[in-house]
Amino acid sequence: MDGAWADDPWAVDPASFAACDGTRARLRFLVTYAVLAPSGHNTQPWLFRLRADDTLDLCADRTRALPVVDPEDREMVIGCGAALANLRGAAEALGESLQVEVLPDPADRDLLARIVPLGPCTPSIAGARLLRAMTARRTSRFAFAPDPVPEILRAAAIEAAERTGEARLHWVEPFPRRHALALLVAEGDRVQMADPAFRHELAAWMRSRHGATRDGMSGAAFGMPDLLSFAAAATVRTFDMGTSQAAKDMALAEGSPALAVLATPGDTPRDWLAAGEALQRALLAITAGGFTASFLNQPIEVPALRPKLAAELGVPGEVGVPQMLMRIGRGPKPVPAVRRPVRDVLREAP
Ligand SMILES: Cc1cc2nc3c(=O)[nH]c(=O)nc-3n(C[C@H](O)[C@H](O)[C@H](O)COP(=O)(O)O)c2cc1C
Repeated sequence: MDGAWADDPWAVDPASFAACDGTRARLRFLVTYAVLAPSGHNTQPWLFRLRADDTLDLCADRTRALPVVDPEDREMVIGCGAALANLRGAAEALGESLQVEVLPDPADRDLLARIVPLGPCTPSIAGARLLRAMTARRTSRFAFAPDPVPEILRAAAIEAAERTGEARLHWVEPFPRRHALALLVAEGDRVQMADPAFRHELAAWMRSRHGATRDGMSGAAFGMPDLLSFAAAATVRTFDMGTSQAAKDMALAEGSPALAVLATPGDTPRDWLAAGEALQRALLAITAGGFTASFLNQPIEVPALRPKLAAELGVPGEVGVPQMLMRIGRGPKPVPAVRRPVRDVLREAP
């Protein structure tokens, strides 16, 4: 694959799709968009397999698991679902018809989706906007400006998330629910940070953005110089900063213009994959509307807090199972988090 995006997927140029010679080249190009998806700790837990019959498999790469914060690989599958949403969206935008079967083989739990290319089709009208959102989207952990999220954007995010009927996006009203959720986030911080195993796992994925692995989180994502990533990791590993982290996240939760929770009917790998797709579609709608999002998943990751979060949202049967807690607003745009190049995540049969 030529072009700057062969080394840095963020540099992908959609105009080059037309020059892709053959099905395999077009699928490789679509994977470039897939890897721009968010993932917990930026582990990028996906592996693509281009098979001899020109079908493409999306697999979970369990070597990139986060056993402490994500013991069931739930967030791992959500990240892969987000990558699948980008791949589908890029195909629609660029004019490649795909048939996607999720979890096609009950005997292979790593195989999350089989993608069958059906040939060129007419590019979607909104395609260019969607592709721009994919390269513009960032997780922004900074404080947001107070500008409210316009009703039309909330509706667009709900429409995007709920398009397939497999997930629901709940916007959380300002008070008192927002305060209750902020308290749960703070409680989650204290529980997680008190656990040395959690801190070790987090620190293991904190690194300079100029390292060779092209994954993990730089200090830059948290508002500090990239050079200090190593020192930040050492601090996280060594000290329980639960109290200060709780105060910081509580202020972010209460100070953001909006919070939203993504939920699914059940809590199976199929739900997680659907949640990931719904999440990414919602994030792209939010990005296209000039807003940004970041995550406060602590009350979902700490098992004892998850039912409390669901109860805060309303009638449990109607709310569903919470999968992601987000805050949304306008804020500073961080530098892009690094991505592994397509050649590192794609295995090709001859
Ligand atoms: C399933 C999932 C869980 C995440 N959980 C958190 C979280 O709890 N806190 C946080 O700050 N970021 C969280 N993130 C964001 C990732 O850290 C982020 O996507 C990654 O560092 C890459 O950065 P980018 O989204 O700007 O490309 C999560 C992302 C995903 C997909």
